[in-house]
Amino acid sequence: MADFPTVRWGIVATGMISEWFVTDVVKSDWPGKSANHVIQAIGSSSLEKCQKFAEKFVAPAKPSVQPTLYGSYQEIYDDPNVDCVYIGTPHSFHKQMCLDAIEAGKNVVCEKPFAMNVKQAEEVFAAAEKKGVFIMEALWTRFYPLMKTLQKVLHEEKRLGTIYRTFCDFGLEMDIPCLPDGSRYKDPALGAGSLLDIGIYSLTWGLTTLSDKVGEGAEDPEVSSTQTIAYEVDVASQVLLHYRSNGRQGICTSTTNCPPKDDFARIEGSKGHIIVYGKEPSHPDHFVFYPKGGKEERYDFDKPGRGFFWEADAVALDLQAGRQQNETMPWAETLRMMNIM
Ligand SMILES: NC(=O)c1ccc[n+]([C@@H]2O[C@H](COP(=O)([O-])OP(=O)(O)OC[C@H]3O[C@@H](n4cnc5c(N)ncnc54)[C@H](OP(=O)(O)O)[C@@H]3O)[C@@H](O)[C@H]2O)c1
Repeated sequence: MADFPTVRWGIVATGMISEWFVTDVVKSDWPGKSANHVIQAIGSSSLEKCQKFAEKFVAPAKPSVQPTLYGSYQEIYDDPNVDCVYIGTPHSFHKQMCLDAIEAGKNVVCEKPFAMNVKQAEEVFAAAEKKGVFIMEALWTRFYPLMKTLQKVLHEEKRLGTIYRTFCDFGLEMDIPCLPDGSRYKDPALGAGSLLDIGIYSLTWGLTTLSDKVGEGAEDPEVSSTQTIAYEVDVASQVLLHYRSNGRQGICTSTTNCPPKDDFARIEGSKGHIIVYGKEPSHPDHFVFYPKGGKEERYDFDKPGRGFFWEADAVALDLQAGRQQNETMPWAETLRMMNIM
């Protein structure tokens, strides 16, 4: 572990996702570990929140470095000891925070959705390119060993034969009118709605299972869609993908009206089908291959946490190699997803 690269992270905001990310990367070990992670600094709208966050989520791991705490975000960007910032604010702030961090010369990992629309994403990538810094959308699920294995089973081993269709649904049951004003699930100004929040994962399973290519060079499927709007946000979205080159179809749905289902994705092919299981499509647990007329085969994966350490490791290797993009989640793939949404 001594010769692993180390990333000194600057955590922007102390909400739920920052908690999940930090709790994972301060762990000492995980399968396939290839980097070390230090929570170098934490920035929040309030210094008090920052202190509580550090005490609760960083201190128990007994890190050798105590994070520097800031009552603002800009101080994180300006901290010379921070290698990479992790942006965990609601969607509508992503663009400006990425631009501010880039302006200060920082590498950036920004939560999904990367921006509110493709135009904003293009602006951020143009700024990163000009400044020569690394930036990536934190689509952590793509870095799971489960996802990598599934892609190998589908696209290299071709165990399903010809792939026909993928279904994926992400549901969360939310009583939107009863949420407090200002909740990111309720306020359209913060990017509320099922598509950008969870439909992005259904789309991820569609795109990764129906084609072996990502980003530039990947076929852009034909898209048709419908949404149900209530309380000014989309409470149900369906995105249908159609690959003109081979007729494959994706049925990618999301809703905030119904809870998630354990068997959230199904991929169908000429030799059988695969079902992906897990509490939610963002963090899958295992998958089962059901061959036509054969015995089912279960693929299990060890996961001593939620699974954010794998994307963090990938970033560390990119920074060590001086890359500006990650090959699993390149800029063109973020733009492709944003375009579809
Ligand atoms: N990868 C995943 O599975 C996953 C899961 C959940 C969320 N996310 C993404 O992460 C982002 C944050 O989601 P979250 O669930 O962590 O949200 P959250 O719990 O509401 O936290 C967001 C944090 O952003 C800061 N913030 C700054 N201005 C704000 C404002 N006007 N309203 C609310 N918060 C504001 C606050 O931190 P301070 O006060 O400390 O500055 C707040 O705690 C979203 O873009 C979401 O899509 C990803």
